[in-house]
Amino acid sequence: MSAPSMILFYSPASPFVRKVMVVLHETGQTERVALQSVNLTPVSPVAELNQGNPAGKIPALRLADGNVLHDSRVICEYLDLQHVGNPLIPREGWSRWHRLTLASLADAVMDAAVLTRYETFLRPQDKRWDSWIEAQQDKIRRGLASFEQEHIAELSAAFDIAAIGVACALGYLDLRMPDLGWREQQPKLAAWYAEVSQRASMRATDPSLT
Ligand code: BEZ
Repeated sequence: MSAPSMILFYSPASPFVRKVMVVLHETGQTERVALQSVNLTPVSPVAELNQGNPAGKIPALRLADGNVLHDSRVICEYLDLQHVGNPLIPREGWSRWHRLTLASLADAVMDAAVLTRYETFLRPQDKRWDSWIEAQQDKIRRGLASFEQEHIAELSAAFDIAAIGVACALGYLDLRMPDLGWREQQPKLAAWYAEVSQRASMRATDPSLT
């Protein structure tokens, strides 16, 4: 077994990092990557992370030649071109754009949940903006309703980049917004998630288990 040639800057709670980790597991590439944990918030940057990654994003993937890839979409696409199994991102045709658009909606749910977390956990209480938090939560509700009502069959068809994104978004909601009660409103999504969250890739990356 050869030493890892790449470094993934990561934080186990980040749903975007988890997406990359799930892709690594699903494509059999975990051993190519060493993990470097960073304790990052919008108000506490990490100097090493900013090298080659001026916005200081995680996840970021430092390649063997020193180049740094970010963000999770770019890293997932890069990793998906590096394995011999079925692609997690369709290479061509309408399915490529459709699955990437579903993945983008999953990213939007993650974004809204992470922003809510920052607003409720990091921002001093007297500076919180309730209408802004409510707008983020509406975005989450609309995204989940769309997955439930329009896309559940497609999510069930393949555990690809779209399904991985939705699974990681739901995992993050359970971690940081456990009172949201999304399962009552989205029973089909809940049943789908109960199944996919048992996959080895999801269990190995579950922040509440690691
Ligand atoms: C979190 O702890 O919720 C978190 C950590 C890193 C990135 C995003 C979210």
